[in-house]
Amino acid sequence: MRTLVAYFTWSGNTKEIAERIARKTHGKLFRIEREIPYSTDYNTCAYTEAKEEADKHLKPAILGPLPDLSEYDAVIVAFPIWWYTMPAPVMTFLESCSDWQGKKLFVFANSYSDISSQFVNAIRDAAVYAKGADVKPGLYNKEIEKLCTWVKENGF
Ligand SMILES: Cc1cc2nc3c(=O)[nH]c(=O)nc-3n(C[C@H](O)[C@H](O)[C@H](O)COP(=O)(O)O)c2cc1C
Repeated sequence: MRTLVAYFTWSGNTKEIAERIARKTHGKLFRIEREIPYSTDYNTCAYTEAKEEADKHLKPAILGPLPDLSEYDAVIVAFPIWWYTMPAPVMTFLESCSDWQGKKLFVFANSYSDISSQFVNAIRDAAVYAKGADVKPGLYNKEIEKLCTWVKENGF
């Protein structure tokens, strides 16, 4: 399966996870980056920048060029949970890529607190922004330990 592994990271955890996923799936990595980078200060990033985006449903511009989805059969998107769902730049990414019709989209997330509803929210939002994609849950937090099995079971 031709696989794209698109990820967003702020403090580096998801970068490591995405690299592991790409190795196991032979996928191509793409880093989703906000055009105007977030502050490196946690409080500014979390409680001012990301909070405002979450509260006002903002979709910040991201760096291009975006990948051409016609080159892939499946997309794995990986990100940290921000404000109980996916970070706003991931929403921009999913909304900006065309065309999701007939593509499998697997959602991977990690977070500070292991609250499953955050992952459910993120999967719901993935289906909202990646219109037409066949959205499926990937692995959340500690489930990443089952990556080898997951990869085999999902036909990569
Ligand atoms: C802006 C921001 C918002 C966050 N919101 C949540 C949250 O709602 N729930 C949670 O469990 N963790 C939250 N976290 C923690 C991150 O999900 C967690 O630290 C993650 O592993 C970071 O991944 P990264 O290193 O790839 O950025 C938040 C972190 C940041 C910076």
